Amino acid sequence: MILETVAVAVWVMLPAYIPNNVAVLAGGGRPIDGGRTWGGKRVLGDGKTWRGTAFGTAAGIVVALVLNAAQPAAVDASGLSFPVFPLVAAVTLAFGAMLGDILASFLKRRTGRERGAAFPGIDQLDFVVVSLALTLIAATGWFLETFTLPVVVVVFVLTPLLHVTTNMGAYALGLKNEPW
Ligand code: CTP
Ligand code: MG
Repeated sequence: MILETVAVAVWVMLPAYIPNNVAVLAGGGRPIDGGRTWGGKRVLGDGKTWRGTAFGTAAGIVVALVLNAAQPAAVDASGLSFPVFPLVAAVTLAFGAMLGDILASFLKRRTGRERGAAFPGIDQLDFVVVSLALTLIAATGWFLETFTLPVVVVVFVLTPLLHVTTNMGAYALGLKNEPW
């Protein structure tokens, strides 16, 4: 049933959803590209920092561990089949989300977009694609069991909606410079 699929999709994606939000809160300090340019443009830009990436990744992993601890009670209470994250999947979901966002900034700079410029489509799905790809590679059996076709479809529909609403919220709260 659709509600169960949505609940499972949100559960499995939480370790990938949290990192970008934590990076917004924790970001700052030395940029990953160290200020270097390529073809006259920054490689990544000041919006991709070591601190944001490290805290974001760590937060995503912690979320997966907390969900693992809560899983038996959540299954009991809801009757839904929430999965348990193997550690490797916790890492690839969280780090993949940060890496996807970093690769998107790389593409933005190559296409002449300044820091903070919108890149519709890429902004909303970059982190999902890379999280899922890394997890498929690193935890294949678990991935195929967990990310069934309906779950993947829900993830690709739900994520842009969640991304747009959380970013508008972060902008309204003054945490982010742009509403995307
Ligand atoms: N952030 C960070 N490290 C990351 C990702 C994000 O420090 N790996 C922080 C930065 O302070 C960044 C903010 O989160 O400015 C918002 O992230 P995002 O919208 O992804 O970056 P932008 O500043 O918009 O830059 P870009 O155009 O490269 O996406
Ligand atoms: Mg941005």
